[in-house]
Amino acid sequence: MQEGLPSRTALGAASHRAAHQVLERGAIFADPLAARILGPDAEAAIRDAQADPSRRRLRLFIAARTRFAEDALAEAVARGDRQLVVLGAGLDTYAYRAPEGSGLRIFEVDHPATQAWKRRRLAEASIPVPGSLTFAPVDFERESLSEGLAAAGLDPALQTFFTWLGVVPYLTEQAVFSTLSYIAGLPGGAHVVFDYGNPAGQGPGQDAYAEGRQALASRVALIGEELRSHFETGALLARLAELGYRNMEDLGPEEIRVRYFAGRGSPMSDRGGHIVRASTVYARRIRRGDPMGQGRRPERAS
Ligand SMILES: C[S@@+](CC[C@H](N)C(=O)[O-])C[C@H]1O[C@@H](n2cnc3c(N)ncnc32)[C@H](O)[C@@H]1O
Repeated sequence: MQEGLPSRTALGAASHRAAHQVLERGAIFADPLAARILGPDAEAAIRDAQADPSRRRLRLFIAARTRFAEDALAEAVARGDRQLVVLGAGLDTYAYRAPEGSGLRIFEVDHPATQAWKRRRLAEASIPVPGSLTFAPVDFERESLSEGLAAAGLDPALQTFFTWLGVVPYLTEQAVFSTLSYIAGLPGGAHVVFDYGNPAGQGPGQDAYAEGRQALASRVALIGEELRSHFETGALLARLAELGYRNMEDLGPEEIRVRYFAGRGSPMSDRGGHIVRASTVYARRIRRGDPMGQGRRPERAS
C-alpha cells in the first residue's frame, strides 16, 4: 500500500460489489449498503463496469467470496461463534447490516489509513456505526495482530469467526502464515474464511487465468499494492492441517461456477482463484475431551 494512503483495491472491491447489485441484481450477493458506502463514486463504478465486460469475472468472484463467507458465518454463529473479526475490512458492510440481537461482537481490522478513510465514508453516507462494532487499526506487515485485537478487547476464550477477503494475495507468505497461526492458537477455537490464487499452470483455461492475473498484478502494482503471494491448493491445505485446522472446504473456479452460477458458462479448470474455509473448533473440543461441545453436535470432520 502507498504510505499513509487508503487502499485503492478496497475501493475497487467495493465498486465491484456495488456494480453487482445493479448488473446482476445482487443475484449472488445482495448488499443494500454496497452503493451507499461508495457515495458519489457509486455511479461511476457502475458505469465503468457496464462499459467493460472484462470486469465481470472478477466482479462475480468477489460477489461469490463474500456470499460464501457470510453463509459460513451464519452457520458458525448458529453453532456458537460469538465474535467476528473482519481482517482487511476495506469497505465491507456486514457490520452495518448484521442481524440485530445476534449478540455477535464485531472487530474490523484494517490498515490505519484505510480504516480512517472508511470511517469518514461511513459518516458522509450517514451509515450508523453499531455498538457491537470495534475498529482495530493494524498494519499486518509491521504490527502484531494479536496485540491489536487484544487492545480492541477481543476475548481469545470465545469461539471466533475470521473473514479475510481479498487480502492474502497482497501479503507476504510469512505474514499470511503468521496470521493463520495466530488464529489457530486461539484457545476458544476459530473459523476462518479467505481467498487466494493459484500460480498459473497448464491446462484448460490457464492462459486466460494467467493473462487475467498478470493484468490485475500490473493494475494493482501501479497503485502501490503488489500481488505478493499465491499458493498451490494441496500444499496450502496441508499447511493449514499442520497448524491444527480441520473441516476444510476449498472451492476452486469450477466449484464456484457450479455452486453460485448455477453451472452457467463453460466448465473451468480447478486452478485459479479459490475460496477456503477452515476451523479449529472441532479439533479443540476433541483435545479438551469434549467432542460434543457441551451438548452441541460436533461439526463434520473431513
Ligand atoms: C482488496 S481490499 C479488500 C477489502 C475487503 N476485504 C473487501 O473484500 O472488500 C484489501 C484490503 O487489505 C488491506 N491491507 C492490505 N495490506 C494490508 C496490511 N499490510 N495491513 C493491514 N491491512 C492491509 C487494505 O487496507 C484493504 O482494506
